[in-house]
Amino acid sequence: MNRSWDSFSRLKLADRLPHYSRKNRLFDCLFAQQFDRPMLDSLIRLADHMRDVTKKRAGDDYLQSLLSHKRAMLYFSQPSTRTFLSFMSACHILGIRVLEIRDLKTSSQVKGETFDDTIRTISNYVDLIIMRNDEAGLVEKASWVLNDYSRPVPVVNAGAGADQHPTQALLDIYSLNRYLPGGLDGKHVVMVGDLKRGRTVRSLSYLLKNYKNVRITYASPEAFRMQPDILDFLKRHEIVYRETDDLESALPDADAIYMTRIQDEHDTAGESAAVDYSPFYFKPEYLDKIGKNTILLHPLPRRLEVHPDVDLDPRAVYWRQERNGMWIRAALIAFIFGLEKDILEFPVPVIPSTPARSL
Ligand code: CP
Repeated sequence: MNRSWDSFSRLKLADRLPHYSRKNRLFDCLFAQQFDRPMLDSLIRLADHMRDVTKKRAGDDYLQSLLSHKRAMLYFSQPSTRTFLSFMSACHILGIRVLEIRDLKTSSQVKGETFDDTIRTISNYVDLIIMRNDEAGLVEKASWVLNDYSRPVPVVNAGAGADQHPTQALLDIYSLNRYLPGGLDGKHVVMVGDLKRGRTVRSLSYLLKNYKNVRITYASPEAFRMQPDILDFLKRHEIVYRETDDLESALPDADAIYMTRIQDEHDTAGESAAVDYSPFYFKPEYLDKIGKNTILLHPLPRRLEVHPDVDLDPRAVYWRQERNGMWIRAALIAFIFGLEKDILEFPVPVIPSTPARSL
């Protein structure tokens, strides 16, 4: 083991990733690059099965018995509504008891305790740490610190600065596969907005590599174009992409449109105020320009970039996408604890006239 975080963190990602698996299985979930197609397919199957099983009380009780001996810490030092609540709900589905830290002013870090000591302390009371932080790299550091000790605890990245949000990308992939006829292979995904500073579009771009013949269009203001590291990744993996500042022209050919808000919390010198973001709003009249099977997604929260009138259109799937987060995160936690077989063997109840794709 390399004892220095500084030198370890400078290694290429491919050389760091093995540190976050155990017995060839995912242990810490930190990066979208940790997921391959078989794993994504497994998680989707598991999430589907869990939501089917819980349609009856017996299945709900069974899932809640699986990890009722475990505790999880939701360590969120950055604001969150849906990631926090969906992880908490995912824990509840599996019977995990949840502790939380949301305000670092209540942590002994204000007394000068180091991050390393704080994370080690947290790990002493729980079996899983789910962590959001505004500093890219800190969630990985938490995993690195804990994996060096005799009682390692898995760490899940719930959003790391402007870098990655891998579990958001999981729920995005789950939703794309769920609502696109025939699934995601061969589809054209248009990502819209502040692509430079949005972590969801970065993680989603990484995950799209796992699907065949996917095309990507990045529609953004010039100042907020997708970062070169992601474009290089797409080139290396021969994924077809283009960049445009003309959202309207990209609409007719889109299978999925992924809207995002301006990320002005990352402003350092008033960058957002200098940009007209309105050309990157999805206006109600755009519903006439998109295909009948085209779906509209958004990681949420939104501001003005999707008008609420659009919500009533069945192609607007973002509220269902949000709920999907609870199921795929429950599946991820179950996967980390090695419960796929136990869950998939539990029979799905037969419920007459229940729509196959209901919430
Ligand atoms: N999509 C997302 O991460 O939302 P929250 O910031 O509310 O968790």
